[in-house]
Amino acid sequence: MNLIELEAITFRYQSAEPPVLRDFSMTATAGECLAVEGDNGAGKTTLFRILNGLSFPESGVYRFDGVGIDRAFFKKQAAAKRFHQRIGYLFQNPDVMLFNASVREELAFGPRQLGLAESEVEARVRDCLALFDLEPLADRAPYHLSGGQKKQVALAAVLSLNPEVLILDEPLAGLDRKTRARLLTLLGELRQAGKTMLIATHDPELRDRLADRTLALQAPEG
Ligand SMILES: Nc1ncnc2c1ncn2[C@@H]1O[C@H](COP(=O)(O)OP(=O)(O)O)[C@@H](O)[C@H]1O
Ligand SMILES: [Mg+2]
Repeated sequence: MNLIELEAITFRYQSAEPPVLRDFSMTATAGECLAVEGDNGAGKTTLFRILNGLSFPESGVYRFDGVGIDRAFFKKQAAAKRFHQRIGYLFQNPDVMLFNASVREELAFGPRQLGLAESEVEARVRDCLALFDLEPLADRAPYHLSGGQKKQVALAAVLSLNPEVLILDEPLAGLDRKTRARLLTLLGELRQAGKTMLIATHDPELRDRLADRTLALQAPEG
């Protein structure tokens, strides 16, 4: 069965403009890894916002695990919370995700919100710091880190929640070669672990090494 299903959705930001997504359909089954490609402005970030319930199409249907995801769905608090727990979203711009006083606090925040025991929170922080060799930065303010460091902290924060779906918006952009290579390996391990992944990228190696399929988006005309 499809875990993610968009059926003929149309989305536009402004009514006077052509839709960013028009009659757009896609599916992903559990455990699938999709590379999402397309030029700047093709709608990759818009698609990801819709999949995360941050934007809503004007027509068409979004189903996650068989359940319709629309404005009404998010009025049901328990279901909405569960939905957000199942999907981890790395924003293209990590600045919007980082608001804690230290990297350590940033990684602890989500697990604490989940209500995990403090010993489990600490274990997840330790594991996620280690994944990216972030220990030297643990007590630094995320706000003052470099762009590539912020991206790693933001992804570590997503992984600290251990979601089953990972929606990653240009995770490799702006990373140095060593970090990029490490992240490619990590993403491969997550894929092996059975995560469902949608990754917006311009990186052909990511597509070739990881993707089961490529979804190519086209910028709207006009
Ligand atoms: N908040 C917004 N308001 C109006 N237009 C937007 C907004 N965000 C994106 N767009 C427009 O929607 C189109 C798709 O953008 P986006 O989804 O960010 O593409 P991509 O991520 O593929 O570069 C672009 O033409 C962009 O200018
Ligand atoms: Mg984008």
